[in-house]
Amino acid sequence: MRIKYTISIVFFVALVIIEKENNIISRVSDKLTLKQTPQTPLQLSGFSHILLKHNGSFTSLTKMDSTFTLMKQRLENYSEHQEVMTRGRKHILLLATTRTGSSFVGEFFNQQGDNMFYLFEPLWHVEKMLTLDTGGTNATAAAKAYRDVLQQLFLCDFSLLESFLDPLPMDHITTALFRRESSSSLCEESVCSPFIKGVFERYHCRTRRCGPLNLTMASESCLQKEHRAIKSVRVRQLETLRPLVEDPRLDIKFIQLVRDPRAVLASRMVAFAAKYKNWKQWAMTGDVPIDDEEVRKLKGNCDNIRMSAEIGLRQPRWLRGRYMLVRYEDIARFPMRKATEMYRFTGIPFTPQVKSWILKNTQASKETSGVYSTQKNSSEQVEKWRFSLPFKIAQVVQKVCGPTLKLFGYKFVSSEEMLTDKSVSLIEDKVFNFL
Ligand SMILES: *[C@@H]1O[C@H](CO)[C@@H](O)[C@H](O)[C@H]1NC(C)=O
Ligand SMILES: *[C@@H]1O[C@H](CO)[C@@H](O)[C@H](O)[C@H]1NC(C)=O
Ligand SMILES: *[C@@H]1O[C@H](CO)[C@@H](O)[C@H](O)[C@H]1NC(C)=O
Ligand SMILES: *[C@@H]1O[C@H](CO)[C@@H](O)[C@H](O)[C@H]1NC(C)=O
Repeated sequence: MRIKYTISIVFFVALVIIEKENNIISRVSDKLTLKQTPQTPLQLSGFSHILLKHNGSFTSLTKMDSTFTLMKQRLENYSEHQEVMTRGRKHILLLATTRTGSSFVGEFFNQQGDNMFYLFEPLWHVEKMLTLDTGGTNATAAAKAYRDVLQQLFLCDFSLLESFLDPLPMDHITTALFRRESSSSLCEESVCSPFIKGVFERYHCRTRRCGPLNLTMASESCLQKEHRAIKSVRVRQLETLRPLVEDPRLDIKFIQLVRDPRAVLASRMVAFAAKYKNWKQWAMTGDVPIDDEEVRKLKGNCDNIRMSAEIGLRQPRWLRGRYMLVRYEDIARFPMRKATEMYRFTGIPFTPQVKSWILKNTQASKETSGVYSTQKNSSEQVEKWRFSLPFKIAQVVQKVCGPTLKLFGYKFVSSEEMLTDKSVSLIEDKVFNFL
């Protein structure tokens, strides 16, 4: 215990030092970048050509080339420290799938306070429009649209998202933004247009009497904020977001939130009863047609989640330091500890507002629960599925999502008794992120 504590202090001190160093590097590179801007590769090579023509010296050309290569290398290094361009501004993307507790975890950022601009599921509109247009989703086209909309939103530009809103906004005014009130940034004073009685039927915010959303105001407010966070359950493959990492205007960090696929299925069968009616049928009869479309879909989802996580955990050069994997079960059991880790990863201060929100919302009593509620006794919720999901269904999930369960440290159950034996934990202790 004591040794652990000492190690974490040492680790923390090391972190502070690394952070300081980064700042110094950014400041130095800031100056260097300014000096270097006029010497773009094109101008430089043109210049060396003239040199060569005038005195025929190959040495000077070689020198120029090596200087240029060095500078190019440095520039490349600086783009890794993108703080140069983003001036400490952080962009957080919380990636999840439905029923993994992402609304709850999204609140960690929504509650951050005045310097955070948080958006809740803006891609809902994109998915809806693409599904309507094509009668099914073209995964490639959808991934591209998601990426482009996210990129713009992180830059406070709502124009592409507007094109997916239905009805199309007029003068950037909309009443149709999906769950606007879930983003406190969209309901604060500066984004609250006057509510005119009789013109629109309802208020558009819970906490304030706001009229329809003026997206120009939203954009202006966003630009004033230091950090930006978006939560989405729609991105399928982490790799499709690589251009966001490479955009020098963004300093993006991904937090992938995962949950035991067996628990997710159990939760979806309740929340999306109509869509999951086949599963409910199978749960009753105990007979699952393993090659059914629904089962293949489940496998596809599990594979996408696993493949994204595998890329993230492998920490390829382009993703280094920008990916964190979090299990819902760990957040539910140790909310404050995990929130602290997440904030440390993002480099954004963990505010007292977030702390008190977490305290208030992880110790709630039973009455406050609803299917979309974030106010639940989180330790209790985490095991509930074990009593609602029939063993036969759990077995099917284990079969098609096996590698996913394994990667995230979810234990297989071998019998009905084991499934419902609360003294057997199905969550292995696992550390995913070493920073
Ligand atoms: C760029 O970074 C690499 C590794 O971080 C380092 O070895 C190299 O010296 C740096 N190059 C320059 C020109 O600063
Ligand atoms: C899916 O979208 C991509 C990119 O827009 C396009 O090239 C491809 O033809 C589309 N595929 C289908 C089956 O529509
Ligand atoms: C929306 O907000 C912008 C910026 O504050 C303002 O110029 C514009 O008039 C507003 N639009 C409407 C229709 O109120
Ligand atoms: C939440 O649930 C856990 C586990 O059942 C229990 O120990 C704890 O007392 C509960 N907390 C509250 C505030 O209800």
